[in-house]
Amino acid sequence: MTTEVNRESWQQLADQIKTGEQQPKYTIRTFGCQQNVSDSQRIAGLLESCGYAEAASIDDADLIVFNTCAVREHAEDRVFGNVGEIKHLKAKNKTLMVALGGCMVQQPHIADKLRSSYPFVDILFNTNELHRLPGHILNRMLSQKSVLAAECADYAIYEGVPIKRDQDFRAFVPVMYGCDNFCSYCVVPLVRGRERSREPAEILAEFRDTLRQGYKDIMLLGQNVNSYGKRPDDGTDFSALLRLLAAEEGDYVLRFMTSHPKDATKALFDTIARHPRISRHIHLPVQSGSDAILGRMNRRYSVRQYLDLIDYARKVIPNVTFSSDIIVGFPGETRDDFLATLKLVEQVRFNALFTFIYSKRVGTPAADMDDGVTHRAKTERMAQLLALQDNIERARLGAMIGKEYHVLATARDENGAGEARMDDNSTLVVDGIDGINQYYHCKITSIKKKTLHGKVIANT
Ligand code: 5AD
Ligand code: SF4
Repeated sequence: MTTEVNRESWQQLADQIKTGEQQPKYTIRTFGCQQNVSDSQRIAGLLESCGYAEAASIDDADLIVFNTCAVREHAEDRVFGNVGEIKHLKAKNKTLMVALGGCMVQQPHIADKLRSSYPFVDILFNTNELHRLPGHILNRMLSQKSVLAAECADYAIYEGVPIKRDQDFRAFVPVMYGCDNFCSYCVVPLVRGRERSREPAEILAEFRDTLRQGYKDIMLLGQNVNSYGKRPDDGTDFSALLRLLAAEEGDYVLRFMTSHPKDATKALFDTIARHPRISRHIHLPVQSGSDAILGRMNRRYSVRQYLDLIDYARKVIPNVTFSSDIIVGFPGETRDDFLATLKLVEQVRFNALFTFIYSKRVGTPAADMDDGVTHRAKTERMAQLLALQDNIERARLGAMIGKEYHVLATARDENGAGEARMDDNSTLVVDGIDGINQYYHCKITSIKKKTLHGKVIANT
């Protein structure tokens, strides 16, 4: 598609960039998961290496990048809403360019909709080829054509893309991309492609960089980290990768997300048990407590196998904690299936639950299954699940008063009152911290409305 806009203004901007007269400004709107946050840090790194600076506000930007999510319909609706609002900014700012990438754009029907109904979008780029974005921007600036390159030319991993980490306390390090699991409800394998693992040496180098930059909480990312390095010639599986990284000296915690129960091995839990620098908190999405539903979800484990894993981890890793994802209202979920999920949640007593109402995704096998669950039943089940989890969390938090924990300070005001993170990712309010991004031993003193309060008893 061709849109007759802006050529002169962009040519002018390109000239000004060349002479250093003007620095173009970008802003990135990120939707979805940690992988997208990590991708956005690479997009920012690329843009800054091309001479862009971060815009103070969206009104100030010459380039707005939307890094989108497709995992549920709600996420897509939000993106369409946000992109629609940009139209009026383009009328005001002749050099404004709008680029969309991320999982949503990788779905052909969405790319078509953007091409036909959103002519003010200048660039579509493939989320598996972030390194091509600067080229697309240049093409767009110097030609009259929008660059709608949503398709992926190849799924190779391109290393060496600069990263601009935000000032958050946590650093993300991707270890693998894509997913081969094809859970029947999930769009990720359709948009992110097949599993590809980064070389251990690349991961180690990036991990060392984060330590040098002072990060104390480093999260390894992948759709299914447990299948890291599964090619026959690899030799380094996920446990071996953890051992390699956790051997680095320093006061940090290494964590990872996400683990698929079918690939979580006893060796993985043994590795965690032996390495004090690996977090004792494991996110292990179960999705449902019913074997029939797990089968239709193509999860390839049973409730018994999941519970056995939890039991084993609890046996070998003192103080291990778990969180999980659960989908409510999967097609054909009966009342008994749902009660089985409640039973599993009661049994495991997760520290946190991320709960989602099933959302039909184009191109997935579940989209062709008979739904059979009314919207009302879905929302009622969700409310019931949340109430159960709330009770579990309140009981656990209450039992923490008077106990001591290792926490990472993440924010502090001038009186020394601040915020910290526990190993299980939950936040607490703490007194007595003298600097952020440091670990402390902290005693829990009270709980107010589900928020823990504590005081520092020692630096670590
Ligand atoms: N509908 C609802 N939830 C979904 N998830 C993935 N796909 C869907 C869907 N179609 C949830 C799963 C996954 C989490 C990241 O998002 O629980 O673990
Ligand atoms: Fe989706 Fe399943 Fe892959 Fe997770 S493991 S990204 S839920 S297909």
